[in-house]
Amino acid sequence: MNKTVDWSALRKDFPILDQKVHGQPLVYFDNAATSQKPRAVIDALVHYYERDNANVHRGIHELSNRATNNFEAARVRTAKFINAKSSDEIIWTRGTTESINLAAAAWGAQNLKAGDVILLTELEHHSNLVPWQLIAQKTGAKLAFIPVTGDDGVLDLSKLDSLLTSQVKMLSLVHISNSMGTVNPVAEICARAKKLGITTLVDGAQSAGHLPVDVQAIGCDFFAFSGHKICGPTGIGVLYGRTEVLEKMPPYHGGGEMILSVGYHKSEFKHAPHRFEAGTPDISGPIGLHAAMDYLDAIGREKIWQHDQELANYAAEKLSALKDIRIFGPKQNRAGLVSFLLKDVHAHDVVTLADQAGVALRGGHHCTQPLMHKLGVESTARASFYFYNTKDEVDRFVDVVKEIQKFFGS
Ligand code: ALA
Repeated sequence: MNKTVDWSALRKDFPILDQKVHGQPLVYFDNAATSQKPRAVIDALVHYYERDNANVHRGIHELSNRATNNFEAARVRTAKFINAKSSDEIIWTRGTTESINLAAAAWGAQNLKAGDVILLTELEHHSNLVPWQLIAQKTGAKLAFIPVTGDDGVLDLSKLDSLLTSQVKMLSLVHISNSMGTVNPVAEICARAKKLGITTLVDGAQSAGHLPVDVQAIGCDFFAFSGHKICGPTGIGVLYGRTEVLEKMPPYHGGGEMILSVGYHKSEFKHAPHRFEAGTPDISGPIGLHAAMDYLDAIGREKIWQHDQELANYAAEKLSALKDIRIFGPKQNRAGLVSFLLKDVHAHDVVTLADQAGVALRGGHHCTQPLMHKLGVESTARASFYFYNTKDEVDRFVDVVKEIQKFFGS
């Protein structure tokens, strides 16, 4: 384990972790679905509602000024968090899903036509698939996919050159797979696409809070992530868009706050990012997210990444020693999660029995139904880790898996 951080001590910052579930100490291994929130984030939200709550960008009274300043300071902080060139490249959304819907609908409506190709990967979760299906149906564009090689969830990049045809206008791909734990070489893939003039989007839902992200180094045009998976509140997300791309993009939603002037028949719109933020936004969300980003960077995302990977490798190794188990995900460079299936035991039964032992897992298709079908399964059980998890918890989890196997007579 990484010795420079006292990981167990950090648990004390998370009030929710200190509880029993079904009489057993809680082991929270559902971090890919949502992370827990440290006291610093909870306090920032309480402070905002107790002291500063007002609408933003509209008032000239003190509370509105404070709310606006904090709201915009969070945008500047977010730009720094992912190394965007400017805070004007940060659009607030409700989460990764809304971010990708925004990019697909607004960019796609203007840039896609019949015969064009949107290139995705077979790893995508529904958020980075369905929005592209919708815009493809509207524009006549088609979808194509970079294939995965099998249970290891690794992309077959030997196919990339043949897939990057002159019809491809958009390449949208996941940074870290939520169901396999694959870490895609997004900088290399985006560079190959950019050479051909293809616009790129990286889905960072599982990466932004787990490893350092530098959108300029990745070289993508869009980058999407959610606040709630990185210790922030639910309901706040981010779409990063390169200025040159955003300035040409039409609005997504219409309403107040995104306009320069409005007539009965026609309106003029603000510059990015405000053009994409109609109506009263989620104000406490960015403020809580700001506190979350400060919290994570005080620990250091390089260290978080190392800790996540150590836990995942340790868990994968211990599970591999069991009989009658199928483990998914890459052998090398696994992100902080392990998906698995026990022979003749439904993933939902694994999750239900683990819950009785206080261990929170996720079971199901993980919003990656096509990938599950490709691998010939309906679902998997998944343990996903974050920096407040410990090796002792992994030991407890593996013991619980063994007990489940015994229960089912294997
Ligand atoms: N995409 C989220 C997960 O993997 C919800 O659990």
